[in-house]
Amino acid sequence: MKVRVSNPLRLIATRPTMIVTTVHENGKVNGGTFGAYTNLSPTLIGIAISRASDTYRNIKRTGELVLNIPGIELADATFNIFGKHFPKNVSEVEEAGVSTVEGEIVKVPMIKECKANIECKYVKEMPVNYHVFVVVEALAGWCEEELKMQKATLMW
Ligand SMILES: Cc1cc2nc3c(=O)[nH]c(=O)nc-3n(C[C@H](O)[C@H](O)[C@H](O)COP(=O)(O)O)c2cc1C
Repeated sequence: MKVRVSNPLRLIATRPTMIVTTVHENGKVNGGTFGAYTNLSPTLIGIAISRASDTYRNIKRTGELVLNIPGIELADATFNIFGKHFPKNVSEVEEAGVSTVEGEIVKVPMIKECKANIECKYVKEMPVNYHVFVVVEALAGWCEEELKMQKATLMW
């Protein structure tokens, strides 16, 4: 027997929550938590991003971002630091005590402690209420060597 649920979209919230890194005008690395995203084609990803977020503003200014997939060790920081707003002179990355590494293609740094990272560039957007559905193109992907060996899909 099926029961009616009050929030149907929770039934399909199965993908790993990610931390999007971008760069502020002052050079500080911004990190924001995003769960509303999906793959659209072999190279395109769509993310619903609040237009009030620093992430959205930085993507529009620089055209670049990195998707960082945290492991369970970063769950607390993902919710309680990257999931909250900080002023531009405070980097969530520094607050969370994680480190960054340079990618190969974009200027935005990647979070070293994350299990996987995808370097991306902005493609287009569509307004959806107070969010903007931002379409980005994956330019390069990185993951922990053991995950590649297992051909693992990240599902936490
Ligand atoms: C688990 C989780 C998932 C989230 N998913 C989204 C999302 O998909 N889109 C969005 O706009 N904000 C989402 N947020 C809220 C942002 O993380 C929050 O607004 C954050 O301050 C954005 O950071 P920024 O202002 O540095 O860009 C989520 C927060 C949490 C804790």
